Amino acid sequence: MMKDNLILLDERKLSQLYHDKKIDVRVLQSVDSTNDYLKSYPLDQATHICLAERQTKGKGRLEREWYSPFGENIYFSCRYFFNKTLNELSGLSLVVSLSILKTLKQHHIPDLFVKWPNDVLHHHQKLSGSLIEIGPSVDGGVNVIIGIGINVNMMNDDHRISQQWTSLQKISGKIFDRNDLVASLIYHLLYDLAHFNEKGFGLFKDEWERAELLMGQLIEIKNNNQIISGIVRGVNTNGHLMLEVSHGKISGFAAGEATILKNK
Ligand code: BTN
Repeated sequence: MMKDNLILLDERKLSQLYHDKKIDVRVLQSVDSTNDYLKSYPLDQATHICLAERQTKGKGRLEREWYSPFGENIYFSCRYFFNKTLNELSGLSLVVSLSILKTLKQHHIPDLFVKWPNDVLHHHQKLSGSLIEIGPSVDGGVNVIIGIGINVNMMNDDHRISQQWTSLQKISGKIFDRNDLVASLIYHLLYDLAHFNEKGFGLFKDEWERAELLMGQLIEIKNNNQIISGIVRGVNTNGHLMLEVSHGKISGFAAGEATILKNK
């Protein structure tokens, strides 16, 4: 990105937004991974948010690297306390993808889909992903680190990204002030996390199915060295992917990597 267009993240402005709710927002110039940074915070039940201008060891799912060049994208983590058991947290990554989707729609990005369990895509190209890491369980609940990467002003990846990707600037031709996007992201995320904590994933099931790229598609899912194919029929109230594997027989999947076999 051209230096003239660089608008840095503004810690003062972002922390003031949620000052009343005692949400602590920190902006770092450089860090290994914002998820790892929040892991070193003393445990409490408060909400902590950390952003970085770049990550030197940004982590994606499935041990992939998350390419994180300086000043171009959003590298965001939030540590949140849920009064839930680990089992009740399945579905969280879907809720987070929906918060990202609403944020991007609010900024007029068209043709977006979510893809189970954690991608936000534009025309089959990845725009955003999330990585959820579970911290230690404490009295009555569990601390969770929710890491979100959104490609914003990145135009070039120096051949570091193996998946098909895009960015907000590539889609719209405009340069975005990441502070505006982060302010909306925090708003949607905190709202959705509070509802999820209270009511569970069931509340989000319909919203998910309306936005899911895989709905009705023939896909292949890789799960624990097994590859299974079938037609996507939706998700259940735990956020498991429901696949019609043979005529009429539906199986649920809690985790895995889904690939579309044939576009309908
Ligand atoms: C994926 O789709 O593979 C998940 C990508 C998650 C990337 C974000 S960037 C902020 C946070 N810190 C990390 O190291 N990873 C997540």
